[in-house]
Parts: sequence; structure tokens; C-alpha cells
Amino acid sequence: MAQERPDIRDPIDLPIGMFDSGIGGLTVLHECLVAMPSEDFVYFGDTARFPYGPRSRAELELFADQIAGFLERTGVKLIVVACYSATAAALSHLQERLATPIVGVVMPGARAAVQTSRYRRIGVMATEATVASGSYVRAIHGLDAGADIYQQACPGLAEFIQEGDVGSREVADAVRSFVAPLRQKRPDVVIMGCTHYPLVAALLQRQLGRNVTLVNPAAEVAREVETVLERQGLARRDDREGDYRFYCTGDVEAFRAVGARFLQMPLDEVVGVSLDELAAASP
Ligand code: DGL
Repeated sequence: MAQERPDIRDPIDLPIGMFDSGIGGLTVLHECLVAMPSEDFVYFGDTARFPYGPRSRAELELFADQIAGFLERTGVKLIVVACYSATAAALSHLQERLATPIVGVVMPGARAAVQTSRYRRIGVMATEATVASGSYVRAIHGLDAGADIYQQACPGLAEFIQEGDVGSREVADAVRSFVAPLRQKRPDVVIMGCTHYPLVAALLQRQLGRNVTLVNPAAEVAREVETVLERQGLARRDDREGDYRFYCTGDVEAFRAVGARFLQMPLDEVVGVSLDELAAASP
């Protein structure tokens, strides 16, 4: 049973909360900052426990509980699970437990892919956790039961992108090794189902070929958040420039340094949160 929503100030004035396994979700925040400039955002990056891709559903549910609980306590009007692995493993679990509206990143990309695909041959590139959950298969088949779906798990690719120069020969080789089997299935649309993959979109596009449409779900997620806020009467109407701030569980300076590459905007306030503090926030 979802909890009663706690007594809140004027919810319109509250920020939008967002979380990810680390810094990758900043590609989702980037789209939201562009689409909703007057809203405030609080972003939580669980950098101490990155990567989420190799983790079990039980672990990801626990982490999601802790972080969403932490965000609810700081006061947010909506939570975006800006991580594909966490959405795949824990979105329904969170929705059952929390009172705050929650948006995940799987369904918006699935919808865009189904709308875009002319031949109904949809590829999905994602982490092991996302592929194993079957979330994309359920989401796509819920919209088009006759679509063919080709999932490609890309173990290690997010870690690679996070660490390195996204234009290195090693990253290009890693991308090629994951694209090759997918390409043989001849998808006409491929979903970038991991927060890090838009950073290598050019490599993906080149190796998939120009006839394949790449879907970056982040822009669709921003649209979904806007629609939910609008329909629930929670969207800010004032002409202002909102602010955004960050929490992370790992090294604050590293978050700031690597984060700017993903956000493509300045990162000022970053506050460190210990895993003990986080565990205490579990609802
Ligand atoms: N945010 C994660 C995802 O989209 C990045 C990869 C990971 O943590 O393993 O799945």
C-alpha cells in the first residue's frame, strides 16, 4: 500500500527529485533542465555503488528505497528514476510504497520506439540488469504486441564511458562488439537504454548504419515529467530560472569533474551523503 502523502508546503514550489547509480542520469537531468527551465531540481547520484548494471533486483530495490526515501524527506513534488537499471528493477516496487508521483525511464523510450519504428523491429541496448528484468519487452509489447524486440546487454560499456574519453579506440571497439550481433537482426530503431550511451551516440549511429533511428529516451522522459506536472497542477507558472543541486554517495570532487561532461552545464553545489545516512532514510 502506498503511504499517505506527508503534509506539504505548496507542492508547486518544491523541486523535482531525480536519482541514478551515479552521474549518467545527468543526461536525463540535462533534458529536463532544458525543457523545464523554471523548475528546481535535486539530483542524487549513488556514485559509491556504481555500477548498478551487474546488481540483483533485490539490491536495486533496496538502494531505490533508500534514495527515494531520502528525496521524499528533503521534500520533492515528483521523483524521476533517471537510471534504466533502477527503473527496470525497482519502479513498480517504489510506486507501491511511496506517495510521491514517480516517473521511470523505460516506458517513455519504449513509446517513442514503437511510434518511430516502421518495420516493427526494435533493438534495445542496455545493462545486464535492464535486459534481465524484461522491462523493455513488457513495455514495448504493451504498446505493440506484434513488434520484434532484440535486446543486447552491454556489460562494462557504461563503466568504460564513465572512465574514459568517449572518443578513444577502446570505446569504439567495445561499442562495435555490442553493435555487431544486434546489427545482424536488422532493427530499424534502437533504444539507447542506459544513461551513458547517448555520449557515444555518434559511434553507435556510425556502426548501426544510417537507416537505423537511434532513440534517446531522455527527451521523452522530460516530456513525460512535464505532462504529469501539468495534469496534476504541479507545474510552475512563474517566469524564473530554477536552480539545481546535487547529492552523491562517493567522492564529491570526482562527481563534479566527471559530471560536468554529462550535464554540459555547470555543477555548483554538490553535497556528500554517507551510506549510513542513506540507510537511515529508508521508508
Ligand atoms: N544509470 C545506469 C543505467 O542507466 C548506468 C549503468 C550502471 O550503473 O551500471 O543503467
